Amino acid sequence: MLSVVPTPLTVRAPAKVNLHLGVGDVRPDGFHELVTVFQALSLHDDVTLTPSDALSLHVTGDGARDVPTDPTNLAARAVVALAERYDRDPNMRIDIAKGIPVAGGMAGGSADAAAALLGAATLWGLDIGRDELDEVAATLGSDVPFSLHGHTALGTGRGERLIPALARGEFHWTLALARDGLSTPAVYHELDRLREAGDPPRAGSPDALLAAVASGDPHRLAPLLVNDLQAAALSLQPGLRRTLRAGMEAGALAGIVSGSGPTCAFLCASADDAVDVGTELAGAGVCRTVRVASGPVPGATVVP
Ligand code: C5P
Repeated sequence: MLSVVPTPLTVRAPAKVNLHLGVGDVRPDGFHELVTVFQALSLHDDVTLTPSDALSLHVTGDGARDVPTDPTNLAARAVVALAERYDRDPNMRIDIAKGIPVAGGMAGGSADAAAALLGAATLWGLDIGRDELDEVAATLGSDVPFSLHGHTALGTGRGERLIPALARGEFHWTLALARDGLSTPAVYHELDRLREAGDPPRAGSPDALLAAVASGDPHRLAPLLVNDLQAAALSLQPGLRRTLRAGMEAGALAGIVSGSGPTCAFLCASADDAVDVGTELAGAGVCRTVRVASGPVPGATVVP
């Protein structure tokens, strides 16, 4: 924790892509058992906390209109959850500057929650370790612990139990952002429906993919990217097939739907290739807009 805490305090948190997303069966609590490999990417939300006499939320940036500014917002829930647990005053102004696509399958809401947790813990000078912060994070959402940690990690359980993974070098990505978002629960329900109707293939073990990430070779990683939610996202937004095809035609090594979608993530051989793929995708009219990013990057971090 910082000894002198500057206010307002800004925390930056990254987007994520799932390199491997194996979805198991539904558990009694309604969540699906996951085996996933997360990678944090260099698209960020900045969350600024300013002590105030009321809890309020203000959102700017791409897609800000679609982010709730009431107490259901994950960043507000994060501050309230931490305040209740450590007996603090939750009143503060929360400013969120969105750089992560909203409802895009890149953990934008989770990033905001992780940033708000770290920010509030720092503002209040809480003497707590990462384990305790992780515990609160997991109550807020399955991806929130990863948004705190960043880098590359193997996630199990609902995705909240993390083991850091070795990654060498930098991987380059182009992201195709869709016009409309997808609801995560709707995508999981669609997968359940597809599984009742037939038997879509399931991702196997992530071991080979973890070795490819450790090797730093994007050519080795590309054929191993897999996402069990992709079939469900494509079923709900069939136009994403065109986006995936266009990225491959533009020279990407591989393309997958990111998490529950609809953002499509393309792995590229270099930073220059990622820009070229982005330019082609933008010109092809198969998405709303494009971003380039690299990973892995750290999780939520106080901005000096
Ligand atoms: O944990 P989070 O709030 O991100 O989950 C949103 C929704 O996604 C859950 O309510 C559930 O419908 C679905 N989900 C799931 N299995 C997981 C993670 C999420 O079914 N492991």
